[in-house]
Amino acid sequence: MGYIKSAALEETGYVVLDSYQQELDPKEWLDIEFVDWKSSGDTRFAPLASAFGEIECNGFWNHTPPRTDKDGVWIPAQTEKAPNLTRRAQEPGANVGRCRIIELQPNTYADCLYNLHQDDNNRLNPDGTGWVVRGFFNLTDDKDSYFVLRENRTDPSEETRIALPAGAQLIIDTQRLWHAATHVGTDPRYCLITSWESGPQLDEYIAKYNGRAHADNVAVPQELLDAGQAEQSRRIAARAAALAARGREEVTAMSEA
Ligand SMILES: [Fe+2]
Repeated sequence: MGYIKSAALEETGYVVLDSYQQELDPKEWLDIEFVDWKSSGDTRFAPLASAFGEIECNGFWNHTPPRTDKDGVWIPAQTEKAPNLTRRAQEPGANVGRCRIIELQPNTYADCLYNLHQDDNNRLNPDGTGWVVRGFFNLTDDKDSYFVLRENRTDPSEETRIALPAGAQLIIDTQRLWHAATHVGTDPRYCLITSWESGPQLDEYIAKYNGRAHADNVAVPQELLDAGQAEQSRRIAARAAALAARGREEVTAMSEA
């Protein structure tokens, strides 16, 4: 039967929506509770919806009973401190699984390339239902930062780099695309990440905000790109060697971010 997917994401695996008037929001993301949760760099997360409404970030399949990343339970102690963010996550009307704010400390392009991963969004997702994708709403005004997307982890030839000013809104099939953020600066980056089920509601939302399947690539000097690629290769090889020494294989698919 296959999953229900968005036609808008078929070509590139992502869409960029019209940007949001971020300055209208208070700094809701600074007032809510964060928990330590390591994913793709130096991170913490503040959940707005979780498997059972607790302030925790574990994949829904790691709970009892295990289930897929849908029907997240909103956490009143968090959502009442972040009403605008909650409203934005609920605006599409699509089923929401996990919904949380990521806090990412500054890193480099080379870090980002090493952090590239695919999300495990559709574990236990029943065939014939909607494919789970993720929305990324950038909250801080990270003008020099950018999201990196690749179809292939180690192939720079088709890399997409999407700018992350305040109000940037992306929807990405993060199980298909390798992804991570390069965050330039001195302060942490905050971004609202929501798991949505694909279907008519999400399609309408993408259309309403003029989802575009091609973003302008953020320009980065070629020598920085080359150095980052070389460093990614070096770190992957070093990690593989370390794991081989311990008799394990590398796990690259992450469920956390
Ligand atoms: Fe991720």
